[in-house]
Amino acid sequence: MQSNTTAPARVGPPPEHTTAGAAVQLVRVHHRLGEVEVLGGIDLAVAHGETVALVGPSGCGKSTLLELVCGLQAPSAGRVDTEPAALLPQRDALLPWADALDNAALPLRLQGAGRGEARGTAAPLLAELGLEGFERARPHELSGGMRQRVAVARALLTGRGLLCLDEPFSALDAITRADTHRWLAGVLAAEPRTVLLVTHDVEEALVLADRVCVLSHRPARIVTELPIPGTRPRDPAADELVALRRAALEALRGC
Ligand SMILES: Nc1ncnc2c1ncn2[C@@H]1O[C@H](COP(=O)(O)OP(=O)(O)O)[C@@H](O)[C@H]1O
Ligand SMILES: [Mg+2]
Repeated sequence: MQSNTTAPARVGPPPEHTTAGAAVQLVRVHHRLGEVEVLGGIDLAVAHGETVALVGPSGCGKSTLLELVCGLQAPSAGRVDTEPAALLPQRDALLPWADALDNAALPLRLQGAGRGEARGTAAPLLAELGLEGFERARPHELSGGMRQRVAVARALLTGRGLLCLDEPFSALDAITRADTHRWLAGVLAAEPRTVLLVTHDVEEALVLADRVCVLSHRPARIVTELPIPGTRPRDPAADELVALRRAALEALRGC
């Protein structure tokens, strides 16, 4: 991980923005998978440039919700309006035969860049994420946390204005995770994007998000929304986060 104080390099083409309205708008969204009622009426609007964290019990439908936002599934009922999104899936979908740099650079290749150019653009980003020296490693040669960081780089390099990140830092050790939080906050400050961040880590939500939405057990609904004041990345030990952490944990316990 490089210095956290310098502004990160521009990481891709300019974000695509829709012209008006929210970046994400879900209206009374219900979703069934077979016999299972997964989402039980989700209303959520996310403003351009806002980071919203989604926390909730395991199996409540967080990944399903991101798939609906990204258009991978259509809702059983209700409306999903979003701008084009880049999804970092919970199980990183890296190409097993391609090295870390080719995996990160994939969106640039899909946008027409030659291999050398794409690798040249992606390399500084991998270095910022602490992966210098691992450019030629295949996914199976990387740790889970390293693969997650390659997937983060790939999501950013799509240039999309909306990022849907599904537990992107779950495999990182505590120090690398804190460094990566700082780095992502720097990236978002330099080039604002809209972020939907699924995490099981309340502290991560409080450090990175402008708003935390707590989801109930299946069928999931948003039971609590907590706006988080202050500039990111926040100090998790800050006084103003203590009460918010307690409120988020109480909402989760009550789910
Ligand atoms: N293809 C499927 N068919 C039936 N049920 C599914 C399918 N995929 C996921 N589910 C169920 O939907 C629920 C929500 O899954 P998921 O969105 O992955 O939850 P989360 O990400 O919050 O852990 C889970 O209970 C899971 O078992
Ligand atoms: Mg999930």
